Amino acid sequence: MTILLAGATGAVGSVFLPRAREAGLRVIPHVRPQTAQHHPLGHDHDALVCDLADAAKLDRAMSETSTIVCLVGTTRRRFSSGDTYVTSDLAPVEQLVASARRVPLASGSRHFVLLSSLGARQGGGYLGFKWRAEEVVRTSGVPWTIFRPSMFDDADSGATPSDGRRRHAPAVVSAAFRFVRALPGLANFADDVRPIPLTVLADAILRLTKDRAPTTSVLRGREIWSVANKVN
Ligand SMILES: NC(=O)c1ccc[n+]([C@@H]2O[C@H](COP(=O)([O-])OP(=O)(O)OC[C@H]3O[C@@H](n4cnc5c(N)ncnc54)[C@H](OP(=O)(O)O)[C@@H]3O)[C@@H](O)[C@H]2O)c1
Repeated sequence: MTILLAGATGAVGSVFLPRAREAGLRVIPHVRPQTAQHHPLGHDHDALVCDLADAAKLDRAMSETSTIVCLVGTTRRRFSSGDTYVTSDLAPVEQLVASARRVPLASGSRHFVLLSSLGARQGGGYLGFKWRAEEVVRTSGVPWTIFRPSMFDDADSGATPSDGRRRHAPAVVSAAFRFVRALPGLANFADDVRPIPLTVLADAILRLTKDRAPTTSVLRGREIWSVANKVN
């Protein structure tokens, strides 16, 4: 199994990549040229350093890829760097899907794992673009799984996102959800919306990537916690 990891330099990517390699999986981390200049993954032996719009380079990597893990995206505060929801949340997914469709796999089928967000829905703004990216994957013809986690918590994860910022859930939020979770009938709802540790999310993506199942599925917090707990 070879994973093409888009978003390798992000918070989730930086937690997922070492876990996947420790598990013995071959990973091709995608690194944007402007990031490669100042990021350790720019010198990674297996890295694919290119713009995802570079179809020739992307297709070469895709020819070795059995699983695409797409963790790309942006936030409003990064728009000043030139990234937008169109260029970071939608276009990379379209480019990866187009490549997966162009380049046949020698045997078997690929698996597309997309990191979306809790609340993705038709409409505008961040959540609307997350929905549109999901739709690209759902209609791709490539077996897929979509993750819809809530707010990230990077505590004890060793995350090293390229923007250098913490993904820290306020203690009061975590405490409030611990309380809600203990109320009768609210455990699943609380698991969907409470902050999710990046370690749990990365473990769940790893497990699902190895199992290549479930496909045709959108996983909320409750399923992500459940899949992650099977890792050990
Ligand atoms: N933060 C939360 O609480 C939360 C909750 C639910 C879902 N999410 C979603 O989870 C995803 C990952 O979050 P994160 O915190 O790990 O993000 P992050 O640290 O901001 O990382 C984003 C990654 O996407 C890459 N990227 C951005 N635009 C790209 C493009 N046009 N082409 C190729 N790569 C591109 C970045 O590369 P560079 O390093 O080159 O910039 C980086 O590797 C995001 O899509 C986010 O929307 C976040």
